[in-house]
Amino acid sequence: MSIIRRLNISAVRNILQLDIEPSAAINILYGENGSGKTSVLESIHLLASGRSFRTAKLDPLINSENEEAVIFAELGDGNQIGLSKSRRQNHQLKYRSEKQRNWENVARELPVQILDANSFLLLEGGPKSRRQFLDWGVFHVEQSFVANWRRTKKSIANRNLLLKNRNPDFSQIAAWDSELCQSANEVDAARNNYFKLFLPLFIDVYRSMDGADAELLEIGYERGWDEDKDIEEVLRENREIDARYGATQNGPHRADLTFGIRRNKAVEILSRGQQKILVSAMKIAQGVLLSQALHRNCIFLVDDLPAELDRENRAAVFRQLAELGGQIFVSCVELPAILDCLSNSPNVTTFHVERGTITV
Ligand SMILES: Nc1ncnc2c1ncn2[C@@H]1O[C@H](COP(=O)(O)OP(=O)(O)OP(=O)(O)O)[C@@H](O)[C@H]1O
Ligand SMILES: [Mg+2]
Repeated sequence: MSIIRRLNISAVRNILQLDIEPSAAINILYGENGSGKTSVLESIHLLASGRSFRTAKLDPLINSENEEAVIFAELGDGNQIGLSKSRRQNHQLKYRSEKQRNWENVARELPVQILDANSFLLLEGGPKSRRQFLDWGVFHVEQSFVANWRRTKKSIANRNLLLKNRNPDFSQIAAWDSELCQSANEVDAARNNYFKLFLPLFIDVYRSMDGADAELLEIGYERGWDEDKDIEEVLRENREIDARYGATQNGPHRADLTFGIRRNKAVEILSRGQQKILVSAMKIAQGVLLSQALHRNCIFLVDDLPAELDRENRAAVFRQLAELGGQIFVSCVELPAILDCLSNSPNVTTFHVERGTITV
């Protein structure tokens, strides 16, 4: 079970020094606007995945009066993860006292999911966020996925370089095609297998949350090229078009998840609150899949969920999250509004956040 037993944050945004021992179940961080609640969730997300869910660059995260931000966590199994990021140097990540070149080991050990205001982007935004959502799950379930996805991206990048030439050398491009086809088929197979596992779980969760139009919702996986053709054929047929665009137009880098209701895109039918329920159900379903397939719980970070959800829907989200049995960090301004939705969950620990510190 992946849980954070102790969390120490130094010089992240307005947090100068914070040390907490979270419970293995529900942790609520409450306090005024700007007190530092989201910064705690952001620190956990950064430590576990290498990315903030608020900024692309990490510099804005370092406290303005300090040179270096440090985040440290002790996990349920006693292992430790430490991350430091200074303004002048690249980050340093350590796991089990060993320096890590990337986040692969840590992300496997500490799967995190975020539910926040930007979660809408999953339905509303471009395919990239949906691919990232899908690949988060595939990464955890299929060990070979990372290597195949890296090979795919490398082949596409090299192929695109050649395509950008004024007179592209198609024999050189064909050489990258064979490499690309191999890894593209592996990536597609892994995504497709994952999607087949994910779909029934998602439908279960969405229905039990009383998701809008649950019976009518159609969700599909598109692999990024014609379903009736081999990738070899598609790449060959589209060489001229690719050369015109100077970029590969078909392949697993164009994969997407589709959501439809009565031949319309779900995003054009559902209200904001209903979309939030759908996205919450998707993320929770990934949590269910992870615990079924790997017997591993993911940590849920829930930032300001009350926005746009009525009491019943908030309760439904928390009921599902609590049923997962993993560790949850929730931020909110008004504590009673959240406690009200958690009436059936006995294991709730609260932390009052004030000006970047925890006060009891
Ligand atoms: N690099 C930085 N150095 C110092 N302070 C910062 C830095 N970046 C952000 N801040 C401040 O840190 C505070 C923490 O913001 P955070 O988003 O965590 O608050 P919050 O408790 O989630 O508030 P809200 O309820 O409005 O969502 C803000 O007051 C912000 O102005
Ligand atoms: Mg916040």
